[in-house]
Amino acid sequence: MADTFKDKVILITGGGSGIGRETTLAFAREGARISIWDVNEAGGNESLEMIKDLGSEAIFLQVDVADPKAVQQAVSETIKKFGQLDAAVNNAGIGGAHAATHDYPADDWQQVMNVNLSGCYYCMKSEIPALLQNPSGGAIVNVSSIAGLLGFPGHSAYVASKHGVIGLTKSAALEYATYNLRINAVCPAFTRTPMVDQLEEARPELKGNLPRGIPLKRLGTPQEIAAAILYLCSDAASFITGHALPLDGGLMAQ
Ligand code: NAI
Repeated sequence: MADTFKDKVILITGGGSGIGRETTLAFAREGARISIWDVNEAGGNESLEMIKDLGSEAIFLQVDVADPKAVQQAVSETIKKFGQLDAAVNNAGIGGAHAATHDYPADDWQQVMNVNLSGCYYCMKSEIPALLQNPSGGAIVNVSSIAGLLGFPGHSAYVASKHGVIGLTKSAALEYATYNLRINAVCPAFTRTPMVDQLEEARPELKGNLPRGIPLKRLGTPQEIAAAILYLCSDAASFITGHALPLDGGLMAQ
């Protein structure tokens, strides 16, 4: 896909770590101009330096996706800097607490919903008008999870938020289908990133066991998730909208 995204402007939330970082780098290798968003300043700046080392243009904006005003301002800053928006990847997310639903702390529930689901909505709300202005059309990819397709005991907030991201994706895809704006979601299974490192730290019984239910018997890599995100943003996926694509080593086929 060399040069598929040459000079395209791509916005990626949670671009300072894991899947988000690998996605920024994959777009940068294609010659895209990147607006990296993250709450984590150090991580965001690190991604910025890595992109610059690849010879691509980028900015880092410290943004909390759960803050709708900050999100709107960051879209404006992105347009001010690059003049347009071609695609947005709403990837920022958090795992939340591990507890049975009746014990799940209400504050944690709210925080997971605010970041994973409302954050995705705030981003789309601000991104869509900018994408509709683009005469070449646009694409949005929301990062859901296999937890958007299946239940996981002890993770009700995360699971509910990721199911919500798929519902939001499908509704918006239908709303904008005739406006040259495609909206899809990806649903990764466990992928080796700091989020999974933290999960294994919090629940040591999972260490070494996460690949067991996956037919390919391994975790995904952030590079594999990034490759699917780039595909869905590219013209090669021009007939795909409203889809929630499992990236799961065969998990959902069982
Ligand atoms: P990560 O923890 O490595 O990266 C997440 C990034 O999002 C971090 O840089 C973090 O600072 C940022 N972030 C968190 N809250 C934010 C906020 N309020 N505003 C802006 N940025 C914020 O995690 P990973 O694994 O790269 O996750 C990326 C996405 O992929 C998340 O939505 C996650 O739920 C999803 N996912 C991850 C899977 C995995 O196994 N790693 C599997 C399925 C989905």
